[in-house]
Amino acid sequence: MKYHITTFGCQMNVHESEKLAGIMEKLGIVSCTKLEDADIIVFNTCAIREGAQNRAVGNIGSLKSLKKHYPQKIIAVCGCMTQQEQIAKKLYKMFPFVDIIFGTKNFDKFESYLIETIKNKNINSKKRIISISQEDNVVENLPIFRSSGKNFWVNIIYGCNNFCSYCIVPYVRGRERSRNKEDIINEIKQILNSTNEKVRITLLGQNVNSYGKDKYEDYGFAELLNEICEIDGNFELTFMTSHPKDITDKVIDAISHQNKIIKELHLPVQSGSDKILKAMNRKYTIKSYMEIINKLKKLIPNIRLTTDIIVGFPGETDEDFKKTCELIQNVNYSGIFAFMFSPREGTVAEKMENQVPYEIKNQRVNHLLNLEKEIQNNNSKK
Ligand code: 5AD
Ligand code: SF4
Repeated sequence: MKYHITTFGCQMNVHESEKLAGIMEKLGIVSCTKLEDADIIVFNTCAIREGAQNRAVGNIGSLKSLKKHYPQKIIAVCGCMTQQEQIAKKLYKMFPFVDIIFGTKNFDKFESYLIETIKNKNINSKKRIISISQEDNVVENLPIFRSSGKNFWVNIIYGCNNFCSYCIVPYVRGRERSRNKEDIINEIKQILNSTNEKVRITLLGQNVNSYGKDKYEDYGFAELLNEICEIDGNFELTFMTSHPKDITDKVIDAISHQNKIIKELHLPVQSGSDKILKAMNRKYTIKSYMEIINKLKKLIPNIRLTTDIIVGFPGETDEDFKKTCELIQNVNYSGIFAFMFSPREGTVAEKMENQVPYEIKNQRVNHLLNLEKEIQNNNSKK
C-alpha cells in the first residue's frame, strides 16, 4: 500500500506528519508523491487562521469524485482543525467519504485507527472513525520517518499556557507539557549517530522558553540548550518559537556563547503598540521588547532577527499601525511574517468590538510587505 500526506501549517505539524509517516512506514506502507496514487490519503490540518482552515476544507472536498471511483482508498483528516470538536463533527457530516477523523491529542492512535479501517474495508463495512481526545499527554517512542533532509525537528515542549487573546493554539494543543530532558538528549544523540553529515537540529515548541517550568525546579530552556551543545557531533542548533516575555538573560547568553547555536532568533512581537499588546494579552511592552532586542544586538552583533506581526487586531487604529511600522524600522528585522487578524472561534479577540474591516487589514499587510522589501534592499546595499 502507498500513502500520501498533505501538511498544512507550522513546523510542529510538519514534524507530526513525520510521525504519522513513521507509523505507516512501520506497517510497511510506503510514501508516494502523487496524491491520486495513494491508498491512504492523510490531511494534517492547521487552524491558526481561517484561510488555513478553508484551504484544508477545499482540498478534502476535492477528493469526492476520486473516492467515488476508488472507494477502497482511505482518507484521514487530523491536526489542529479537527481537534476542535464542533469542526470535526461538521466535517464528519459534510464529507461522508472521509474515513478517519482525529485531533492533535491522539495522533499516536493513528496506527490502530488505520488497522481497524483496513479491516473494515476488507469486509466491506463502511464504519467510520471520529475520535477527538481532550487529554493532554506526552507520547514517547513513536517511530519518526524524517523527510526534511538535513533539518531534524525535535519537540521539547507541547502546548501553550499563554492564551494570547487572538490565538486558538492553547485550545487545540492543550497546556504546556515538557518532555523529559533525557528523552530529548537521547533523541538528538540518535540523530547524530544516524549520519556523518553536518545536520541542523531545530528544537520545537509553541513557547520553547517555557521548557522545564512544568517539570523541573532548576532546569529550564537555557540549561537544555547548554547541555545539548555539549553533545559531541557535527551539528548546528536552532529553535522556535520564543515568547518575548519569557526569554531570559541565560538564554541570550547561551545564544551568544555557544558556537553550535545559529545566530538567529525568531521573536514574534505581533504589534508595535502597547495598547494593542495589552489587548492581545502579550504581557510585555515595546520598551521591554526593545530592551531584549538591544541586549541581543549588543552581545551578538551579527544576529538575524525575524518576527511575526498581526495587522488589524480589533481596535488597531492608524496610529497603532504607525507604531508597528516604526518598530519594524527600528529593529531592522531580517524577515517579517505579517498576517491579517483572523477571528478564531472561542477566543477572546473574536468577541471584541471594533473589528477592523478587511480592506484596511489588506492595506496594512501590503504596506508591511513593501516596508520589508525596502528594509531588505537597504540592507543588501549596505
Ligand atoms: N489571526 C492572525 N494571525 C494569527 N497568528 C496567531 N493567531 C492568529 C490569528 N487569529 C499569528 C501570530 C503567530 C503566528 C504563528 O500566527 O503572529 O505568531
Ligand atoms: Fe498562541 Fe500566544 Fe501561545 Fe504563541 S504564545 S501559541 S501566539 S497563545
